[in-house]
Amino acid sequence: MPHLSHTRRQFLKRAVAMGAAGLAPVPLAAQPGPRAFSLAPAPARVALVGDPHPATEVWAFDGRVPGPEIRVKQGERVRIAVANGLPQETTVHWHGLRVPHAMDGVPHLTQPPIPPGGRFVYEFDAVDAGTYWYHPHAQSYEQVARGLFGAFIVEERTPVSVDRDLTWVLSDWRLTREAALRADFRTMFDVAHAGRIGNTVTVNGVVPESFDVRAGERVRLRLVNAAVARMFALRFDGHSPVVAAYDGQPVAPHAPADGRVVLGPGERVDIVLDMTGAPGARFAVTDDFYPRNAYRLLDLAYSAERPLRDRPRAAWTKLPDNPLREPDLSRAVRHEVALTGGAMGGMGGMGGMGGMGGMMGRGMAWMINGKAVAESDHHDHAPLFALARNQSCVVTFVNDTAWHHPMHLHGHFFRVLSRDGTPTAHREWRDTVLLAPRSRAEVAFVGDNPGDWMLHCHVLDHQAGGMMATIRIA
Ligand code: C2O
Ligand code: CU
Repeated sequence: MPHLSHTRRQFLKRAVAMGAAGLAPVPLAAQPGPRAFSLAPAPARVALVGDPHPATEVWAFDGRVPGPEIRVKQGERVRIAVANGLPQETTVHWHGLRVPHAMDGVPHLTQPPIPPGGRFVYEFDAVDAGTYWYHPHAQSYEQVARGLFGAFIVEERTPVSVDRDLTWVLSDWRLTREAALRADFRTMFDVAHAGRIGNTVTVNGVVPESFDVRAGERVRLRLVNAAVARMFALRFDGHSPVVAAYDGQPVAPHAPADGRVVLGPGERVDIVLDMTGAPGARFAVTDDFYPRNAYRLLDLAYSAERPLRDRPRAAWTKLPDNPLREPDLSRAVRHEVALTGGAMGGMGGMGGMGGMGGMMGRGMAWMINGKAVAESDHHDHAPLFALARNQSCVVTFVNDTAWHHPMHLHGHFFRVLSRDGTPTAHREWRDTVLLAPRSRAEVAFVGDNPGDWMLHCHVLDHQAGGMMATIRIA
């Protein structure tokens, strides 16, 4: 597997270090068994912004932001012992990994929260190859915003031919001028609007300046949006990224629409980038999701070395499929999931100002099918709907709000069939679908993983503000 090569120089300061921070497995006794890892979420100080700014007090897995990258092979069994060093209860959710219900890390729903000083051991099989991530699911609007997130990579059984396989964990922070984290979590303004969008974007835990590449190389770049609210739309000037996977699941290779790689919170996109620039050249990577606040994320900085190869590589071919069950649309049951509420809610809003005022008093601003559910009550809340095991289901998400919502389903992947009534070009599998304001999307999946599974918005202030529900697979 062509990993980050040891022949590369030490990274220059503020260059983005890629994939260098892997989590070494805990040495095991000689007999085969699960790959064992440990994670210790706790307060830490990290240099997010860099000189002359002081380090930032964060909460981090193993003292690092992002947390160590967990990398295993498809089919391996994984055991991860989590020791809670935080002053709050926590859990760890393995976003996108299809794990058994008891290992899904949702407090009160799949496990009791891990108390401060407590421990919980997660164990599951890595059934799907792809790009996943982990983060707490307790007070996640605060715990993720404080720095608790990391990438979880499952490598294909047969190695994929690229020169380097790298991860960019994108995040976003709300910092003071002294680079301290603002502790204004879950304000009613953030809850009812776009969520807690910060003022500082990091890539792999640093405010990036450049990313070193070599002419002629082919890079698989795994993008993870770990921000609590910010969406990204990345443009790679002078390059032609090819989308290889969404949310870890292979897709027919294609150029991103309008040349922008869009990621809502929680989403991942794997792109394949052929470094077609000349030695010594620089190209900007820009983010223009919010057009009036477009900015240069970093530069691709080509080394002076001569190109790695003379002729371009053959076109990228689709990654091997994961073992997902195909929904049978002719027998599918159909459910509508309506999203309402938020500021500027209008007619689809909160049943008049009286209703809105009452909800706001409880810190709630959003509803799914007319109900606002808080983290503390979803365990005794009736599921949105129930499916018999292996039942195919089509869900139509209807976003009747003025805001974007990345809707995430646990324990499953769904095919995105259509958006606003138009069939999607690739019918891609995803675990999170980004709904634009006043839009709808139709998805289909097979309920084959038994349990009560979370369905929620991954703008974490929206989730905390009522935008969560469960669906039951018998
Ligand atoms: Cu990324 Cu319910 O989670
Ligand atoms: Cu939302």
